[in-house]
Amino acid sequence: MRPEHPIVLITGASAGFGEATARLLAAQGCHLILGARRVERVQALAEELARTYGIKTYAGKVDTRDTSSVNAFVAAGAAALGGLHVVVANAGLASGLHKIWEIPDEDMEAMMRTNVEGVVKTIRAALPLVRESGWGHIFFIGSTAGHATYEGGGVYCASKHGVKALAQTLRLELCGEPIRVTSIDPGMAETEFALVRLQDAEKAKNLYKGIEALAGADIAECVRWSLALPEHINIDELIVKCRDQASHTMGKVNRKA
Ligand SMILES: NC(=O)c1ccc[n+]([C@@H]2O[C@H](COP(=O)([O-])OP(=O)(O)OC[C@H]3O[C@@H](n4cnc5c(N)ncnc54)[C@H](OP(=O)(O)O)[C@@H]3O)[C@@H](O)[C@H]2O)c1
Repeated sequence: MRPEHPIVLITGASAGFGEATARLLAAQGCHLILGARRVERVQALAEELARTYGIKTYAGKVDTRDTSSVNAFVAAGAAALGGLHVVVANAGLASGLHKIWEIPDEDMEAMMRTNVEGVVKTIRAALPLVRESGWGHIFFIGSTAGHATYEGGGVYCASKHGVKALAQTLRLELCGEPIRVTSIDPGMAETEFALVRLQDAEKAKNLYKGIEALAGADIAECVRWSLALPEHINIDELIVKCRDQASHTMGKVNRKA
């Protein structure tokens, strides 16, 4: 049975989609387990949301690339809040824009270890606790980069195609259990994503110049909606783009002068 106040774990809650999802679900009365490497950010967010909405929160430092860090974070969060129902495996990044023959190991490893392995590690640690709770929902945050490719984005696209494969597989593996599986696959969204990728505030800002890109709150709304639907409905995959972006890549973008 769906609990009145589900306990939701979000990785990458220190910025962007993760932070926005925490804010929206807190307003719905969900209890929150929030993690990221910048622990001071998630701690401040958790304190603010607990104060504002009277929910229970746990904030912890987690590096999703690291198995022991993930296991400790998930176990501590669930112990502190008394269970776990919903997982938003959101932590991820793009690192640079490199042709396949040029990409440094460091960028390749950052993306594959965070976007693919980190997601597996998060779900692997969380699923036994979700099962124990008897009801659940697992969210993947994929990307339109999991549905197409673009030059300079080979490894990022490979990692997000990987996320799509993981989401589809988990959906098959959990069929028959009271746990839904949803992948939300955004297009261009103005978060810290481009700054992390390009390491240049001006270039990051220019990427969204003249378009009304998605915001973190838009993706949070997709999570809220999928979660709120009646139990027999499972949104498998939601591809979400702003109106100004018509293609999965930046090939067809309506940019005002
Ligand atoms: N923005 C877009 O255009 C877009 C489009 C499609 C998909 N996505 C995907 O959406 C997800 C969220 O991105 P965003 O746009 O919200 O970017 P963002 O604003 O940069 O947020 C990324 C979050 O991931 C966390 N993170 C990164 N590496 C981590 C690690 N090793 N361990 C734990 N946390 C880690 C960051 O926290 P710390 O740095 O504090 O650890 C941060 O909270 C990512 O999976 C991204 O690939 C983004």
